[in-house]
Amino acid sequence: MGIKPGLAVIIVGDDPASQVYVRNKERACEECGIYSEKYALDASTTQEELLSLIEELNNKKSISGILVQLPVPDHIDEEKIIEAINPRKDVDAFHPINVGKIMTGNYDFVPCTPAGVMELIKESGIDVCGKECVVVGRSNIVGKPQAMLLLHNNGTVTICHSKTKDLKEKTKKADILVAAVGIPNFITGDMIKEGAVVIDVGINRLENKKLCGDVEFESAEKVAGAITPVPGGVGPMTVAMLMKNTVRAAVINKSK
Ligand code: GUN
Repeated sequence: MGIKPGLAVIIVGDDPASQVYVRNKERACEECGIYSEKYALDASTTQEELLSLIEELNNKKSISGILVQLPVPDHIDEEKIIEAINPRKDVDAFHPINVGKIMTGNYDFVPCTPAGVMELIKESGIDVCGKECVVVGRSNIVGKPQAMLLLHNNGTVTICHSKTKDLKEKTKKADILVAAVGIPNFITGDMIKEGAVVIDVGINRLENKKLCGDVEFESAEKVAGAITPVPGGVGPMTVAMLMKNTVRAAVINKSK
């Protein structure tokens, strides 16, 4: 019998941005022919109820990947939830076992957003080897794994964040600059080296409802050699990498 990937997506509460992301993930599954189940749980769902659903999905044969959309409501311990997911079904690669594997370079899954950034770099014919790479942002979801992936590709990596002193001095040295700090228009053209590759992971909703990245596109595109737009740059890659991880999970779970 062939391998049939299946993805379970859990969302707790009604955060509008999370709802959009989950919808995009469901749609991608449909487009790829991947079986999916969506669990939209009320914001009042208890931690025990969520843990019990995860346990059920851990044991469900038709489900190869489990994703709990973050953030979860404050009364739920995010760490406990992530640790409850079977690492072999952890298509986000957030479980400490998978995080550890990313450190060593011997990994089954790569977190979707950093994986998407690497794919963009590779597909654009950009060689990371020996380049000055600056990651602005230190989240567990993007900044930290992104830095490791660039390092595994022989980049010389600096991690900066919102509290870094003399940030401009550091970003100006970057051949490859990844902005993942979650602050609208934080990186401006004057902070970018001429010809640099600029990858904007930020998705920020402004008061006028418009989406913008962490990079001020107008000033940055005049200096950058290559730059990703928001929306439409990294976002779709994240979803594509989730599909890849789901297929990988199906293969892993079949063979173990
Ligand atoms: N919230 C923001 N980004 C992500 C992601 O990549 N995965 C999950 N599960 N939640 C998120």
